[in-house]
Amino acid sequence: MLKYVDRRGTNSVKWDNLIGTFGNPDLLAMWVADMDFEAPACIKDAMREYVDNVPFGYYLPREEYYEAFMAWEEARHGYKIERNWLCFAPTIVSAFYWITLMTTRPGDAVMMLTPVYYPMLKAATDNDRKLVTCDLVRDGDTYKIDFDEFENKIRENSVKLFILCSPHNPVGRVWTEAELARMMKICKMYGVLVISDEIHQEFIYNGHRHVPTATVGDYDKNLITLISASKAFNIAALQNAMVIIPDEELRARYKDFTKRIAVNGGNPFGYIAAEAALTGGSEWLADVNKQIWENYLCIKDTFARELPEVGVADLQGTYLLWLDFSAFLKTQKETEEFMEKDCGVAADYGAWFGGERFAPFVRLNLATSRENVETAAAVIIEAVRKRKNDENKDSAE
Ligand SMILES: Cc1ncc(COP(=O)(O)O)c(C=O)c1O
Repeated sequence: MLKYVDRRGTNSVKWDNLIGTFGNPDLLAMWVADMDFEAPACIKDAMREYVDNVPFGYYLPREEYYEAFMAWEEARHGYKIERNWLCFAPTIVSAFYWITLMTTRPGDAVMMLTPVYYPMLKAATDNDRKLVTCDLVRDGDTYKIDFDEFENKIRENSVKLFILCSPHNPVGRVWTEAELARMMKICKMYGVLVISDEIHQEFIYNGHRHVPTATVGDYDKNLITLISASKAFNIAALQNAMVIIPDEELRARYKDFTKRIAVNGGNPFGYIAAEAALTGGSEWLADVNKQIWENYLCIKDTFARELPEVGVADLQGTYLLWLDFSAFLKTQKETEEFMEKDCGVAADYGAWFGGERFAPFVRLNLATSRENVETAAAVIIEAVRKRKNDENKDSAE
């Protein structure tokens, strides 16, 4: 059974750094993408066994760790990985920063589909690369890619690197095989290297299917896939990610890069937890997915009934819900005031994911208790009602 954990006072970024980011420690934390559930017993047991019995000297990862990733990818996603393709990174964010540094030069164009997980944008801007964004297009409750725009942007900017988020954080799209194949075909045609960040691949709902980008055709020469057990099993703090590089030359460059920055491995707990999760965590993960889906239905139905002007994006994948408040809010300042002052909720702001044009949107994290989700929906509805009443009073006066 899944157990909710009150993480306040546990040095959690999400709950204990509200003051640092929002200046208010009392907000309901629905931002940072991690979960508020007790860790799976298989992970705790494996870590306990190590803590109790082993001195903490330099650690050599077990072969079983690599085998666990390979078996998991093949069984769950049909992606057959060869052992020597697997390279280490402490986190997915470090991996896409390093690959950006390794494969592009200052001024080179790096493209993303926006709105997108903001550290991807920063991988370009922090490193003086030219950020090229291609906005997703609204399609009812979901989003699609404008492929003409996608290709034009690549051609016009001589894009060198495309960072793909699959499934897509924040709009919750699970890309279809046809969409992935079309993106990859265009990228290959223009010699664009693709990083496919598939960290959210275990959160897929309602008949959708995660298709690893690597399985849609022969793209070994221009594709690097990033996966990790950290999102699915809530072990982000343990810092362990997998960089899959089928192409020998690209892999040699990656290994040379990590050699020059002297990073050749991580801490034992990251390896131990990932292996334990991938070999014994499926049931726990199924419970988590059930809870997230029910949380989604709860908030979606509540808004549809009580406040249909709030746009609730279709949650095909991820546990991050994209809400559209453009019926009430326009600017980033208005959205911040509404969420923090009127609602008392800490959310990720739309503008963080690509600029002011996304300011009327917020991203809410659903990997928490039903009670937190219900509270978030209730305070938002109440705050909008109050706002409408105040406006009516003002216009009557
Ligand atoms: C798309 C995506 N990539 C990467 C990460 C972070 O991964 P890591 O902690 O391994 O850097 C997140 C976290 O929210 C994410 O949403």
